[in-house]
Amino acid sequence: MINSLGTLSAVIGSQWGDEGKGKITDILSEHFDILARASGGANAGHTIFVNGEKHVFHLLPSGCLHPDKPIVLGSGMVIHLPTLLDEIKTLREAGIDVVPRLHISEAAHVVLEYHKKIDGVVEERRSGAGGIGTTMRGIGPTYADKAHRIGMRMGDLKKDEGEIKKYFEHHANFAVKMYDISVNSEIELPQLFDAKKLLEKRITNTVSYLHKALGKKRILIEGAQATLLDIDHGTYPHVTSSGTTVTGALQALGLPPKELTSCIGVAKAYCTRVGAGPFLTEISGKRGDELRERGGEYGATTGRPRRCGWLDIGELKFASRINGFTHLNITKLDVLDAEPSIPVYNGNDVTELPGWQESTVGKTDYLQLPEKAQEYVEYIEKESGVPVGFIGTGPGREEMIVRSN
Ligand code: IMP
Repeated sequence: MINSLGTLSAVIGSQWGDEGKGKITDILSEHFDILARASGGANAGHTIFVNGEKHVFHLLPSGCLHPDKPIVLGSGMVIHLPTLLDEIKTLREAGIDVVPRLHISEAAHVVLEYHKKIDGVVEERRSGAGGIGTTMRGIGPTYADKAHRIGMRMGDLKKDEGEIKKYFEHHANFAVKMYDISVNSEIELPQLFDAKKLLEKRITNTVSYLHKALGKKRILIEGAQATLLDIDHGTYPHVTSSGTTVTGALQALGLPPKELTSCIGVAKAYCTRVGAGPFLTEISGKRGDELRERGGEYGATTGRPRRCGWLDIGELKFASRINGFTHLNITKLDVLDAEPSIPVYNGNDVTELPGWQESTVGKTDYLQLPEKAQEYVEYIEKESGVPVGFIGTGPGREEMIVRSN
């Protein structure tokens, strides 16, 4: 079944992020030749186990542990260099040198320290009208600079240090004037120079790199954030600042939509959200708290407790429609094991589906699932109109059902 995904496949979040895209990407990475991240920045977070030790990575894609796979950081990304250098260092300490495999787009934008400050300032100024609850990683301000056409790009690191300094000061000047913040070039500039030293040779034209591989090598696109956080199609203004759908990812990588061979939509068996914004199926009180504890629903990037709710099939249908999912990956089915019944919002009203109250943890064969759990999966399949190809039954890499459809 994994072979039938073809040569250009994308993994896309269908809810508000944190669906567990990392695990399916990691599993699929083995079968693909090139791993590409398209957009977003250190607002994303996925847990990676390096030599048994837990690390949260924000910029390198989940498949980076596969030792010989080239990694693309695409043009739509916003890159906080100290975070990237830290991730590289963590891997290096574990004996994995990721640098020679990196292909970083010269058009990706640089998140500077002052962008994080601006994130705080804007959030505070906005708070009268209700804050967004951003991750404070400087994402919005960096994309705003990009749209203003005053941003610093990875390709700028190829300039000599004097020129980088001039360029930085020119751009920082805008920020100081617009947001009334201070900029500390004694911290910022050494960070830029360190990154230049390590990464200059890895900054390249990733569009042409990917086009040379198209159709010949298998490319896996790892989407970041998720459909309902999309700047155009999400629950604006409670969204992130980039395109998070599959077309957003193709745009960010410079790949033509006609080359896409499959698109896997990832959805939790229930739903979570971090930050502010509408959430129709949110569960308040004890039942929501219990679900949060069972699912370990705390943000990987910020540690914030995630808001928990039931599956919203209406939203899932919407996500399927705009992304054209060919398969779904339903994650964390086991978290619902204890529920006596499971409410699902079908776009019109709430339907109560019977729970199975039996462990599904670690199941790898669909037919081993309790009948009611199979009914739940098949309900999602029928309502969304998308075949469920993968079902997560626990946090471990091997705890996944891969169906043959
Ligand atoms: P920003 O991307 O930091 O500007 O945050 C905007 C909104 O998107 C906030 O509600 C964040 O909590 C949410 N968000 C951004 N990235 C992620 C993610 O990777 N997972 C879940 N929520 C995210």
